[in-house]
Amino acid sequence: MRHLSFSTATIELLHIDDLPAVLDIERRSNSHPWTERNFQDALTSGYLCLVARGETGVCGFAIARLLLDEAELLLIAVSPECRRQGVAALLWNEMSERLHNNGARVLHLEVRESNASAQAFYVSRGLAQSGRRKRYYPSGAHGAEREDAILMQGAMSQ
Ligand SMILES: CC(C)(COP(=O)(O)OP(=O)(O)OC[C@H]1O[C@@H](n2cnc3c(N)ncnc32)[C@H](O)[C@@H]1OP(=O)(O)O)[C@@H](O)C(=O)NCCC(=O)NCCS
Repeated sequence: MRHLSFSTATIELLHIDDLPAVLDIERRSNSHPWTERNFQDALTSGYLCLVARGETGVCGFAIARLLLDEAELLLIAVSPECRRQGVAALLWNEMSERLHNNGARVLHLEVRESNASAQAFYVSRGLAQSGRRKRYYPSGAHGAEREDAILMQGAMSQ
């Protein structure tokens, strides 16, 4: 059931002041989260860093990089209480438009094999599996085990 509507959420460039909220979402979304330094590096490297801002503040973010005509989605996450309300779709639309306008014609990414929600989201955006990287991610309580990465790819259109 949809409790809230984020149809009015705005998608903006990530500002350094958003980092505490973004880090909070990242830590609640990923078993091996990016550090504050990782986000700062993304900002200084010129990666496309977007946040979704709802009535109560930042509710999601996405980070992508562009190399010639290829874009790579590095991270996307929505705070657990705001999922399945179209927030990631809003981030995706803005990201795709900006990347396409800057020359991207294909988008690729890696996702944990166990992450069915994210894979379903990417399929809903038109991506398909393009490969697999064996034992790519650390997994398990102390990162001692390994998990395959599923590679996904899709054409970018405006
Ligand atoms: C993946 C994620 C970003 C999706 O965010 P979201 O805001 O909930 O996604 P949306 O509401 O925009 O979903 C758009 C569509 O994607 C698909 N989808 C999203 N989550 C899904 C799920 N859990 N199960 C099945 N389909 C799903 C649906 O088709 C959905 O449309 P619908 O709600 O009308 O059925 C979110 O689950 C998340 O933050 N997960 C943790 C972080 C993560 O795994 N990031 C990806 C790392 S590679």
